[in-house]
Amino acid sequence: MSAKKESIGRTITVAFLVCLVCSVVVSTAAVSLRPAQIQNQLIDKQRNILSIAGLLQPGLSIEEQFAGITPRLVDLRTGQFSDEHDALTFDARRAAGDPALSKRLDSSDDIAGIRRRENFATVYMVENDAGDIETLILPVYGAGLWSTLYGFIALEGDLNTIVGLGFYQHAETPGLGGEVDNPNWQRQWEGNRVFDDDGNVATRVVKGGVDRNSPQADYAVDGLAGATLTARGVENLVRFWMGEQGFRPFLSNLSAGEA
Ligand SMILES: Cc1cc2nc3c(=O)[nH]c(=O)nc-3n(C[C@H](O)[C@H](O)[C@H](O)COP(=O)(O)O)c2cc1C
Repeated sequence: MSAKKESIGRTITVAFLVCLVCSVVVSTAAVSLRPAQIQNQLIDKQRNILSIAGLLQPGLSIEEQFAGITPRLVDLRTGQFSDEHDALTFDARRAAGDPALSKRLDSSDDIAGIRRRENFATVYMVENDAGDIETLILPVYGAGLWSTLYGFIALEGDLNTIVGLGFYQHAETPGLGGEVDNPNWQRQWEGNRVFDDDGNVATRVVKGGVDRNSPQADYAVDGLAGATLTARGVENLVRFWMGEQGFRPFLSNLSAGEA
């Protein structure tokens, strides 16, 4: 090969063309895979909702099973159903960062450590043939030790008894705060009640373990050894979302048939 053919200009041109081709390939792949990624995220969320509500049946497609669940948008300011946004596509996380779609919480109200609360939330309902709610699934989130935990709480039709609580995203330490995913711990939530006879949120996560003979046993689960801060975060986020700044107004309206 002659010295002329190996000039710096040719080397730079070839390098540029290789970069250009690679970047086109990578961008095309990213753009064309985006719809599949969004679809997979949706299916994953639906799988979590089904699992937390105790409705997941292995072997059946998620889409098929989710067809029995109705998503509805709730205006958290009024506690009423709303059609202001599409329940399926409403992005609550983005809304929580948008001052037009959320409200800043006073520090005394912000027990879940979320700073802002979105004005709308998508809830999921399983109804029987008569139109009565069998299971109500509500999104919940709040600060743990290292991360925000995102999950769902499922309630029975009495809007008080817990069917399940679980998280689909967090970054707590595996083996410590990560034990929130342990099925043995999650099972303790099942059958607990949220509200006491006076209508107050009575949920507790008890460090050292719940005294099963105490009056609080119906509302409490054992703490997580070595992960008291994450466990307290879970208690606080449940108390927040079941409270006045969360779904309490909606739950009251729903049980009065006025949502
Ligand atoms: C590397 C490391 C990771 C930890 N991860 C967690 C965690 O995910 N959640 C948590 O509550 N505590 C975690 N801790 C422990 C907390 O710092 C704190 O000691 C603990 O929450 C106290 O709980 P205890 O009273 O049950 O021991 C971690 C500690 C270390 C050193």
